[in-house]
Amino acid sequence: MSKLEIVVGKNGSLKIFGEFILKDADGKIVEPPIRPDKNWISLCRCGHSKNKPFCDGTHKSTAFESEVTAK
Ligand code: FES
Repeated sequence: MSKLEIVVGKNGSLKIFGEFILKDADGKIVEPPIRPDKNWISLCRCGHSKNKPFCDGTHKSTAFESEVTAK
């Protein structure tokens, strides 16, 4: 079994590659959007998505800036 991979995008979302289960604070499963053309989903980290916790691309039209680099 391969490890789940999470990529911190430059000035954008968290891209998740691999199988996962996402739950809300009450433990209920949050179904990700169906995207048969993609093998990843994005979680919003800018706070502006209208479809939280998923990224809807709104970060591109905001001044959200965050670049994370491994040390
Ligand atoms: S990171 Fe994309 S809308 Fe927030």
